[in-house]
Amino acid sequence: MENSRGNFGSKLGVILATAGSAVGLGNIWRFPYMTGQNGGAAFILVYIGCIFLLGLPGMVAEFVIGRHSAANAARAYKNLAGRGPWGVIGYMGVFTSMIILGFYAVVAGWCLQYLFASLVGQIHGDATFVKNYFTTFSSDPFRPLIWTVVFILVTHAVVVKGVRKGIEKASKILMPMLFILLLIVVVASCSLPGAMKGVEFLFHPDFSKVNQKVFYEALGQGFFSLSLGTACLCTYASYFSRQTNLVGSALQIASIDTLIAILAGLMIFPAAFAVGVNPDSGPSLIFITLPNVFQQAFGSAPLIGYVISIAFYALLALAALTSTISMHEIGTAFFYEELHISRKKGAWIETTVCVIIGIFCSLSCGAVPALKLFGMSVMNFCDMLTANILLPLGSFLTCIFLGWFIPKQIVKDEITNWGTLRHTAYGLFLFMVRFVCPVCIAIVFLHQLGVI
Ligand code: PHE
Repeated sequence: MENSRGNFGSKLGVILATAGSAVGLGNIWRFPYMTGQNGGAAFILVYIGCIFLLGLPGMVAEFVIGRHSAANAARAYKNLAGRGPWGVIGYMGVFTSMIILGFYAVVAGWCLQYLFASLVGQIHGDATFVKNYFTTFSSDPFRPLIWTVVFILVTHAVVVKGVRKGIEKASKILMPMLFILLLIVVVASCSLPGAMKGVEFLFHPDFSKVNQKVFYEALGQGFFSLSLGTACLCTYASYFSRQTNLVGSALQIASIDTLIAILAGLMIFPAAFAVGVNPDSGPSLIFITLPNVFQQAFGSAPLIGYVISIAFYALLALAALTSTISMHEIGTAFFYEELHISRKKGAWIETTVCVIIGIFCSLSCGAVPALKLFGMSVMNFCDMLTANILLPLGSFLTCIFLGWFIPKQIVKDEITNWGTLRHTAYGLFLFMVRFVCPVCIAIVFLHQLGVI
């Protein structure tokens, strides 16, 4: 039976919804260009190490806190913190997720525009045309703004329906669609002449490229990709049942997330190498480099190029949507539970706040360059503030709080489902959360702040 705050109805629902949160633009857009910039396969190996050694314990830590409290993120931390200051981590998560949703929806909106443009066959022309297309579009005051608002409203429409009928149902439809589209583009990309060079780049490690920076970037990317540090996993875990195996589910979710990131690499690098484009093209990769790559690669078969371009932007939009749903749910649950209002009203408050943040971010990308904070566009500032500061800080504090302050019995009960599961993972988990994770996160955090 679904209780009054809702819960996930099945094991598959838990895995697909939470993996949906994890799989997003981070996997499909950010992971490939980070891999490109940091030397390919060697980066991937370090990344996998970071995900399973450090990300996984961080994920389980949020699950423990969320399921134990069965409440929104702010209350979940407060319940366990008592009068202590740790309750603030939950509020920080709610705040962080709103900012992320604001700027993430802008990029997601661009994906919608490109999906539309691909459908009507607008992005046709030489490299200069494609570049100008992006510059003209992103500096237009209205069009990007409209797509941003549309994206947030679509997210709203799913979240408002509730946990089981909205989030779980949407994830069960969207995630398989995403996977199929991804496979289609991977096959098309890998079958291009010259594609094997890209595959080799992705799987042949060059360890001379591994330095400190690779480690910092891999950890930062891993945490963003797993949606750690925003209280998102904590909010979703509050809808898990008492039978959900927290460690097992985290393992499955992290594996799906990593698999999709690697498939995204297999979609982008073979095509890029086939037409001789440098893979380390930075953030403009998906809106300038790739449309060119697709046009050149499938120049002799325009119909395939047309289909691939549509499939690519559709899958980006789907991946973004399952992530924005999870970000939206954090705030929605917070508002309706803390203000004792209906879920619908809570969702509207969250939507309004995020639309306002989204408007500032969108306009700062070109239409109103004066919209700056600390010398950066509002968009870049929000990205920097969350990815470099608030996410690592949230994860660091969560590890310290769980490792050192939450009663051990609670943690053990949650990990072993009240003694019904084997507890081999428990000792290792506690050790990682108490010592290894906080030290590693702190090192990356201080590096990002320029202290070390
Ligand atoms: N994990 C998502 C991605 O890879 C981003 C995200 C961050 C989602 C924080 C929710 C919370 O794109």
